[in-house]
Amino acid sequence: MHYPALSAEAIEYLAIRPEGIYLDATTGLGGHTREIARRLSTGFVIANDRDADSLAQAREYTREFAARIQFHHGTFSDLQEAVAEHGVQKVDGLLADLGVSRYQLTAPHRGFSILADGPLDMRMDQSQRTTAGDLVNSAAEKALADWIYQCGEERRARKIARAIVRARPIRSTLHLAGVVERAVPRTGRLHPATRTFMALRMVVNDEQRELDRLLSIAPDLVRSGGRIVMISFMSLEDRKVKEKFRALGREGRGTVLTKHPVTPSEQEIGENPPSRSAKLRAVEIK
Ligand SMILES: C[S@@+](CC[C@H](N)C(=O)[O-])C[C@H]1O[C@@H](n2cnc3c(N)ncnc32)[C@H](O)[C@@H]1O
Repeated sequence: MHYPALSAEAIEYLAIRPEGIYLDATTGLGGHTREIARRLSTGFVIANDRDADSLAQAREYTREFAARIQFHHGTFSDLQEAVAEHGVQKVDGLLADLGVSRYQLTAPHRGFSILADGPLDMRMDQSQRTTAGDLVNSAAEKALADWIYQCGEERRARKIARAIVRARPIRSTLHLAGVVERAVPRTGRLHPATRTFMALRMVVNDEQRELDRLLSIAPDLVRSGGRIVMISFMSLEDRKVKEKFRALGREGRGTVLTKHPVTPSEQEIGENPPSRSAKLRAVEIK
């Protein structure tokens, strides 16, 4: 069973018109794409993701609505081309559900998992060259510490970076998780390597820059009266989305529809605990 986070809320804020054209920038396994497509008549949805594996699964999951979906393999930086390729100038709505999918996070061979052994990979797009293993085994200690501190918001970053450099070569996800666990004691519920894994994943996939790029091009991809809906799972990302949407409001280019972020209901969290940290924000373009 696949649970896209805040699905009903995303659909509500997109205010879907059956003849409209939508862009799902992060199709993943196709959960949100499917919900959009099923509400369309003559319209269609461009379903984009940088992960070809996920797109193949999304194709299966959305087969029933295939006539209303155009798939596209690319990053946020390629979205302008994705839209133009389908003969569209502006879309009626853009959805981005940021981060990694459950599939990416839990499939051991993708190397994101802290709990199952796998290669230190973490590339969302497997045609990309640099893997987490390349960073872990060849980056300077200072660079590792800065990434873990800034992207992972991990206070014990220096200690962790030192332990990583000493333990090189690090061969697998569980090897790395063990090195971090021995370097810093567990505090609270999180595995001590959670933030380190998150930081590496963000660097491997250049996630901060990709989000900045998305936030800068999204308003130009959406027609006047159309909407942008974004779901984020990390405070760093939600902050960027919030600031961009507020700036659009101040500049008279958009109307913020969510004064406070929309979060999942108790029921959704009960059924799908990973949705716990999801935050949705929406803006209407003027
Ligand atoms: C949280 S998942 C989306 C799940 C999806 N909404 C669903 O219902 O299955 C995020 C997806 O965004 C993709 N992604 C993340 N950053 C991206 C980027 N810069 N360009 C394109 N896709 C990206 C990931 O590969 C992943 O499949």
